[in-house]
Amino acid sequence: MNPSESGHEPVLLAEVLASLSPQRGQSFIDATAGRGGHASAIAAALNPGRVLLLDRDAANLQFALARVRAAAPESRVDAIHGDFRSISEIAQKQGISADLVLADLGVSSNQLDQAQRGFGFRHDGPLDMRLDQSAVYTAADLIRELCESDIADLIYNFGEDPFARLIARKVAQTRTHEPILTTAHLARLVREAYGSRARASRLHPATRTFMALRIAVNDELRALEEFLKSVAAAFRTTGAGWLSRSARVAVISFHSLEDRQVKRSFATLVDEGLVARVARKPQVASDSEVARNSRSRSAKLRSVSRIDR
Ligand SMILES: C[S@@+](CC[C@H](N)C(=O)[O-])C[C@H]1O[C@@H](n2cnc3c(N)ncnc32)[C@H](O)[C@@H]1O
Repeated sequence: MNPSESGHEPVLLAEVLASLSPQRGQSFIDATAGRGGHASAIAAALNPGRVLLLDRDAANLQFALARVRAAAPESRVDAIHGDFRSISEIAQKQGISADLVLADLGVSSNQLDQAQRGFGFRHDGPLDMRLDQSAVYTAADLIRELCESDIADLIYNFGEDPFARLIARKVAQTRTHEPILTTAHLARLVREAYGSRARASRLHPATRTFMALRIAVNDELRALEEFLKSVAAAFRTTGAGWLSRSARVAVISFHSLEDRQVKRSFATLVDEGLVARVARKPQVASDSEVARNSRSRSAKLRSVSRIDR
């Protein structure tokens, strides 16, 4: 299936396959099934085996389920609509002892491209940004309810935008006389806050603000922290639990704050003698992949394999 049919091109696919090294009969959890790009390739390699797919986005999950079942017809493939912060509870409830776990963080291209999901500003849409559409808080709620300094901190901390204070001031001034409810409106305000500085910016000035809001709406950094804690606890348990005795875990991140969390968590496990790094350095996309898929530019893959005790 090509990216135009699936809505998303999996990043670092060859590197993920080499790092996880799927073998016939193994069990695999894809914590971020998305459009099933990575999962269908891994499932095909382990078929007949077992696959558990998770995603907070119910529509992506259903798409991935059909795709993975088609790729691995002799395997047991289940799908759970849930958050990977609860991976340990979900896996234990499903009775799976995973040999392979993948988390490919962030959003998929089809989510970004759907104007009504409110993740992007290229097409106008409601300021939503919820990965899980049954969740309560949208980006418009945050923009309406947070005080100016909290908006500035959020854009600075999660978006690393040096003009966060100017953007927050513009938002706070505007919302006193008109609600900010759409992606195009917010993008216009950010551009106005940048003023002539926008010309020097390689990215659209709203890029960082939108990423920061998305991270906040979905509590993405805390979800990752809890996921990594669950993985670490499973590696610290003697013998097989929801991670098998030879488990491999791979995480692809797109944000320096996420990569820092993954790096620290894996380094601690290496120091404790529980896992080995699959590659010495984080793996990044080749020039040809970046030329084909610009999303891969900031991707970093880190993977570890369990040392059996
Ligand atoms: C980059 S995409 C994954 C793409 C997938 N690897 C593929 O090849 O099609 C990230 C997916 O993770 C989901 N997601 C993000 N945070 C999540 C979380 N905390 N728990 C479960 N799913 C999450 C998003 O809804 C999205 O579908």
